[in-house]
Amino acid sequence: MATPREIRALELTPVEKAKEVHFKNPPAAFYDAIGKEEGMKSLMYDFYDKIYESNIAHFFPQDEAEFDEVKFKNSKFFIQICGGPKVYEGEAKGMDLNEYMIRVHDDFSITEKSRIEWLGTMREALADKAQHVDMALIKEFWDYLEKFSKLTVNTFDDGSTYYAAYTKATEDK
Ligand code: HEM
Repeated sequence: MATPREIRALELTPVEKAKEVHFKNPPAAFYDAIGKEEGMKSLMYDFYDKIYESNIAHFFPQDEAEFDEVKFKNSKFFIQICGGPKVYEGEAKGMDLNEYMIRVHDDFSITEKSRIEWLGTMREALADKAQHVDMALIKEFWDYLEKFSKLTVNTFDDGSTYYAAYTKATEDK
């Protein structure tokens, strides 16, 4: 069990340009506890509803059908990355899932400010939809998001860009 207050206290650390990022995929225990496919879908649909109200809404498709497609694919990614069924396999075209995800984000100019908004939005979705999950498991899920999201930041305050090489990221087992 977790209270919204505890969830909202989850912290984030700043991205550092070109710095190696170590992360661990979220545990299957989180996937089970959130309520497997249905629970994950409910979390991610709530997240995307909040994204539409956020200051990064403009990054995402404004067309409803296209937006639904992103919601759906996003849910499938998180189901698989947490150790659930391999429902995203076809999308990644045989690539490592995390490597593919970094490349998907290369098409957008993502700044630290956008990352903070993205994470803050996810934290709100967790506060709404993950209260029945153990705080220790929520922390492990958050840890993956907090670290991995650094690899999606490619545009920096001085206007320069840096695209994270997957070889500079380490998936700690
Ligand atoms: C832990 C970090 C993140 C993960 C795991 C993640 C995951 C995903 C996934 C699974 C998709 C759908 C890919 C597909 O089409 O199959 C996606 C798309 C997208 N994400 Fe992220 N994301 C992360 C961080 C961010 C951040 C920080 C931003 C900042 C703006 C962002 C912006 C987008 C955009 C713009 C799209 C594409 C929408 C489109 O297809 O038009 N993501 N992300």
